[in-house]
Amino acid sequence: MADRPYTLLSCGMSLDGYLDGPTVKRLPLSNKADLDRVDAVRASCDAILVGAATVRNDNPRLLIRAAERRQERLARGLPPSPMKVTVTAGGELDAGADFFVTGEADKLVYCPSSAVRSTRARLGELATVVDGGPQLDMRMISEDLSARGVNRLMVEGGGSIHTQFLTADLADELQVVVAPFFVGDSRARRFVGDGSFPWHPDRRATLAEARQIGDVVLLRYALSSRFCAG
Ligand SMILES: NC(=O)c1ccc[n+]([C@@H]2O[C@H](COP(=O)([O-])OP(=O)(O)OC[C@H]3O[C@@H](n4cnc5c(N)ncnc54)[C@H](OP(=O)(O)O)[C@@H]3O)[C@@H](O)[C@H]2O)c1
Repeated sequence: MADRPYTLLSCGMSLDGYLDGPTVKRLPLSNKADLDRVDAVRASCDAILVGAATVRNDNPRLLIRAAERRQERLARGLPPSPMKVTVTAGGELDAGADFFVTGEADKLVYCPSSAVRSTRARLGELATVVDGGPQLDMRMISEDLSARGVNRLMVEGGGSIHTQFLTADLADELQVVVAPFFVGDSRARRFVGDGSFPWHPDRRATLAEARQIGDVVLLRYALSSRFCAG
């Protein structure tokens, strides 16, 4: 089997398991101290992957905020922020999105062969569009990222992406931050969709850490024997 990066899934969710609210407005689930923790986790990774819907809905920059963390990466011979990666079937990505126009690190877009030409035309030099074959799957993407030098991958959602990494058993670690409120509207996106997960009542995941960070709680789960507590 080809190598794949150490893969860490990260998300914030409400007490009732939602990643966002029912409207397109971005829902703040985290707090200042936790955002700084996420910044440190991002700085420790070679690449950050999000789904195309997250690029469209949240317009994330996915850059390291703390100057000292950017400096520390530069001192290690790395770009100030990790590579950005997204996946799309239809290629409907805005070339003006912050994902593409901010930061110096490489941007990769995986799409099926059928959408390669139109996606390249849309994004031009802003990103490398990778032909993922007839249908994308997260194992192929993981292995391709590994071949491109990504040893540590942070997956930041959304729900469809988390579902695919978890059900394909491609995650080594899960970091969930639980915010102290409910969304209470099933139009919102849940952390995961339906699927056959490797962790179920007869095979419980290992809780590696529970940490209070102000009014939120971080839960870290070890999902593979490669889990690294450090
Ligand atoms: N709370 C958090 O920590 C957090 C983090 C991230 C996101 N979110 C929220 O999550 C929501 C989005 O979640 P989501 O599940 O709807 O979307 P998503 O996972 O961000 O992206 C889904 C999109 O990714 C592409 N995609 C996914 N799997 C694919 C595959 N196998 N092959 C080809 N393309 C694939 C498709 O793009 P195309 O449609 O372009 O074909 C698909 O529509 C956002 O509203 C955001 O606010 C929350």
